[in-house]
Amino acid sequence: MGSCAVAVLTVLAVTFLSVSAKHADVQMNEFCNLYEGKWVFDESYPLYDSKRCPFLLRQFNCLGNGRPDRVYQKYRWQPNHCNLRRWNGKEFIMRVKGKRMMFVGDSISMNQWQSLACMIHGAFPRAVHTTRKLGLLSTIVFPQFNFTMMYSRNALLVDITKEKTGRVLKLNSVAESSKQWLGIDILVFDTWHWWLHTGRKQPWDLIQYGNVQRKDMDRLVAYKRALRTMTRWIDRNVNTDKVKIFFQGVSPDHWNSTQWGKPELQRCSGERQPFTPQMYRGGENLPESVLEKVLGDMKKPVHLLKITALSQFRVDGHPSIYGNPKKIGMDCTHWCLPGIPDVWNQLLHETLIRA
Ligand SMILES: *[C@@H]1O[C@H](CO)[C@@H](O)[C@H](O)[C@H]1NC(C)=O
Ligand SMILES: *[C@@H]1O[C@H](CO)[C@@H](O)[C@H](O)[C@H]1NC(C)=O
Repeated sequence: MGSCAVAVLTVLAVTFLSVSAKHADVQMNEFCNLYEGKWVFDESYPLYDSKRCPFLLRQFNCLGNGRPDRVYQKYRWQPNHCNLRRWNGKEFIMRVKGKRMMFVGDSISMNQWQSLACMIHGAFPRAVHTTRKLGLLSTIVFPQFNFTMMYSRNALLVDITKEKTGRVLKLNSVAESSKQWLGIDILVFDTWHWWLHTGRKQPWDLIQYGNVQRKDMDRLVAYKRALRTMTRWIDRNVNTDKVKIFFQGVSPDHWNSTQWGKPELQRCSGERQPFTPQMYRGGENLPESVLEKVLGDMKKPVHLLKITALSQFRVDGHPSIYGNPKKIGMDCTHWCLPGIPDVWNQLLHETLIRA
């Protein structure tokens, strides 16, 4: 096991002695784990106004779609033994000036990308920006900061190729996908939610591992093999002194309300407040455990945003019926913005500062 990778995965539990006067609100001590804590009400939140964010897609704009309660926007994450730095857009921009950042993954990755764009816009409301979408790649540029932030839709990270036999999911290959990743300074990967799809939503016909193609296999195993392919590619191809690699931890969904003591049919709807760790036990999240294991075996240092547990407490943070103005359907997977992914980005920023 690469000691470097292990060191980085535990970096957030490490001592930070020097705290500049300017950031005196951050008090670190050797017992501080940023990911253990609770949500606390904070009148000064949210970090931006959904009506003013020009990037926000309708599916995340819950207030715009008629969600009547707003309290869900007014919580900050409070670690048990220290404080998470308040979002400071200027500090973030100083760090990413002249850089290119890319979120690679499914729509949860897009959720986090949109959140970050809105957070930057909230800090610099008059900053010029350009947006473009080319196929599966969406780009936002802030020219005055020479900062480019992209979202590459790539739900499985490994390749899918069209062959005579059909669409083949290649668990051993990122050759096609990785072309976009070279030359990016900050990469944030995410995959999981599409590994369970079957039927029409399943984007492949066959799964190939080694030279063998098969119709189906245990999806958690397939996911683990794909993650190994990814992490080997990073170990071989990425100079992590220059390029920062993040993995978004597995974002929990909330489709089964019996898990928090409500009738199963309710799903995530009707929740207005966060749960405390005592009230909500999501239990072990298997894909997150797999991700942690695979990253722990890496040679190069990467950063895992361990957002699973803290997001599990936020059943109230999903769009539920407010994913569109007609209130058709139910979304207990994505997150309203402003909302939970804003905290993921604060944790990302914190990690960039410490790395
Ligand atoms: C902007 O950043 C790119 C790298 O992303 C760099 O090559 C270029 O020189 C920068 N341009 C300016 C005007 O700083
Ligand atoms: C929902 O969760 C409960 C309690 O954990 C479990 O018994 C039940 O099987 C789950 N239902 C579904 C549809 O997964």
